Amino acid sequence: MAASDNKVYRASTTAPVNIAVVKYWGKRDPKLNLPTNSSLSVTLSQSDLRTLTTASCSAAFPSSEGDSLVINGEPSDVSGARTQACFRALRSRRAALEAADPNLPKLSQLSLRLVSENNFPTAAGLASSAAGFAALVRAVADLYGLPDEPRELSRIARQGSGSACRSLFGGYVAWRAGSAADGSDSLAEQVAPAAHWPEMRALVLVVSAARKGVSSSSGMQQTVGTSGLFAERVAAVVPRHMDAMEAAIRDRDFAAFAEVTMRDSNSFHATCADTYPPIFYMNDVSRAAIRAVEAINANAGRTVAAYTFDAGPNAVVYYLEQDTEAVIGTFYHVLGDMDGWKAPVIQGLKPSMTLDAGVSDLLKNGVGRVIMTGVGEGPMKTDEFLVAEDGTPV
Ligand code: DP6
Repeated sequence: MAASDNKVYRASTTAPVNIAVVKYWGKRDPKLNLPTNSSLSVTLSQSDLRTLTTASCSAAFPSSEGDSLVINGEPSDVSGARTQACFRALRSRRAALEAADPNLPKLSQLSLRLVSENNFPTAAGLASSAAGFAALVRAVADLYGLPDEPRELSRIARQGSGSACRSLFGGYVAWRAGSAADGSDSLAEQVAPAAHWPEMRALVLVVSAARKGVSSSSGMQQTVGTSGLFAERVAAVVPRHMDAMEAAIRDRDFAAFAEVTMRDSNSFHATCADTYPPIFYMNDVSRAAIRAVEAINANAGRTVAAYTFDAGPNAVVYYLEQDTEAVIGTFYHVLGDMDGWKAPVIQGLKPSMTLDAGVSDLLKNGVGRVIMTGVGEGPMKTDEFLVAEDGTPV
């Protein structure tokens, strides 16, 4: 059946951000976007950070328009190889369904109109590409009625942006590097659902809302090409961290989770410093956040907080809900009122300690806003549409 009925077909989904605790850094095949090592992340709650994407298509959309994507009201280029790889993979799956059932409308032949919105600043240095590609792939898969499991879709999202494959799941998620040359075994899987360890919280210290200096795609390839330390990270450090992290999550052992998280962030940034010329993602404010976490843990007499940094200066601090006073009490006391604190959480929190003045000043002057969130669920279908029934973006 040709889709000549001018009907506008639509599907909407939301997808989460994830922050890795064992980092993906390095591609063994840049074309297929295959990683040098496995990685593991915590999916963050969509109440605080999410991308909403509506995928639509219709025979009424002029074919001259081609595929289009609007993000936060701005047209975005879809001609890049990564976006094209996702569209191609999704279309060929739809085409296979259409070939098997001639009654299905031939949606695979129509242009896609995608509209997407983040509920957080795109350039905040948060993994917006992860939520973005996860939402794109999930929304088009729903539009096309694909029967594929999230595992299968993660293989497609991976080609858009590596870390996006982990955003197809909620909770605690591993991306298995795989070894097949065609990437067929390089996909994400859930290690544990959010409900397994629901007390996990994350405080994001937004250090800079400016776009990052060296993109992760180019930064990681410079590291692969020039860092001697990197080979050791891939061969020995990451496999050890993956095993220890999976055990820590299984046992809900925060001290172990925190140590691996901090060590892995340090190891990743050490390979950046060992890149030639070196890449520096962390700045003085980031390093002050590390000192603050160390002081909070020392004051508590046990590990209550863990820092981690991606390809930018923002700190993400993981902690458990029961340690809110020790962690949030200290940061709130230092940073004072600013965007992002949740009133019900900070109400009545006492500062449990005082930080070194140098550390306090750096944080106070360098952190622009905070985001309070925690572990959350994977993509969710929604009936909130960014494309109206008549096909116009809303
Ligand atoms: C430091 O997923 O953004 O956040 O595959 O080139 O799109 P591409 O890279 P991307 O890299 C993320 C790197 C990281 C670590 C992580 O999320 O595991």
